[in-house]
Amino acid sequence: MVNYKDLGLVNTREMFKKAIDGGYAIPAFNFNNMEQMQAIIQAAAETKSPVILQVSKGARSYANQTLLRYMAEGAVEYAKELGWENPQIVLHLDHGDSFETCKSCIDMGFSSVMIDGSHLPYEENIALTKKVVEYAHQFDVTVEGELGVLAGVEDEVSADHHTYTNPDEVVDFATRTGCDSLAISIGTSHGAYKFTPEQCTVDPVTGRMVPPPLAFDVLEGVVEKLPGFPIVLHGSSSVPQEEVETINKYGGALKAAIGIPEEWLREAAKSAVCKINIDSDSRLAMTAAIRQTFVEKPAEFDPRKYLGPARENMKKLYKHKIINVLGSDGKA
Ligand code: G3H
Ligand code: 13P
Ligand code: ZN
Repeated sequence: MVNYKDLGLVNTREMFKKAIDGGYAIPAFNFNNMEQMQAIIQAAAETKSPVILQVSKGARSYANQTLLRYMAEGAVEYAKELGWENPQIVLHLDHGDSFETCKSCIDMGFSSVMIDGSHLPYEENIALTKKVVEYAHQFDVTVEGELGVLAGVEDEVSADHHTYTNPDEVVDFATRTGCDSLAISIGTSHGAYKFTPEQCTVDPVTGRMVPPPLAFDVLEGVVEKLPGFPIVLHGSSSVPQEEVETINKYGGALKAAIGIPEEWLREAAKSAVCKINIDSDSRLAMTAAIRQTFVEKPAEFDPRKYLGPARENMKKLYKHKIINVLGSDGKA
């Protein structure tokens, strides 16, 4: 049993309170490998932004949960080496699917876990979330629950349509489970293919594709029922069109992919939305740089020569999100 405090990590409690009071959101970036982790920490250290390193089920099976935990411990020391005196880094389990998975992460030093019971019947979601909270709180680990279902793939559960969070359930859910934050469904979804061009309209000024509006009334309803309670948005990648174009220019075959406009996320971050999950944008940034290097330098076979530019491109993306979208720079 290792407590996250011994690793120099922090939980989300104070971080979220400050974010809500300050009208910004904390970036929750998924990581699966060293280059992603380095890019996240460099971006956070250079902007002095609190940051959540999150580990999905896919990441645990790809990279190994133990290794990722040691990388996060290393990230704290690395951040200090980069001149960040008091790094505010959370190690978070993304979409935990069982009590056992959450317990195993808590026991090995994660400072925050998500238990995703959103696909379960309401009472079962409450029972499971409460069980995780009771265990986690003994070690001061914070817990994110979820109400409502995002369209697309969540864990191994795939849903064709969104089931928006019902604002009438949130007080009962938060009170009975004791969770520290709540992920809600308002029309975002996981992955790069959130909206098709047919679902979008073209902005006459910028020429950009604008997706149908998110259910901001649901967010407002939730905030009204649970004032000051930390709210989480999953599926918040914006799918930068320049990365999609670079991927396709250098041999990729992505279909038209449209994400969540960054201005919408900026607005959400000013409300009680205090954690915004971004994974797909980083995947696109990494792939774009690697593809470009492969085409421009076909004789290169040293992985550092293509993973290095990939790391730089991800870092640029993370800094942009922190400064221009979430507004978390200078808050740690
Ligand atoms: O919630 C979804 C995240 O983007 C993680 O996806 O399980 O493929 O790593 P993954
Ligand atoms: P994106 O696929 O939009 O990046 O969402 C990531 C996410 O919600 C991780 O939990
Ligand atoms: Zn998610």
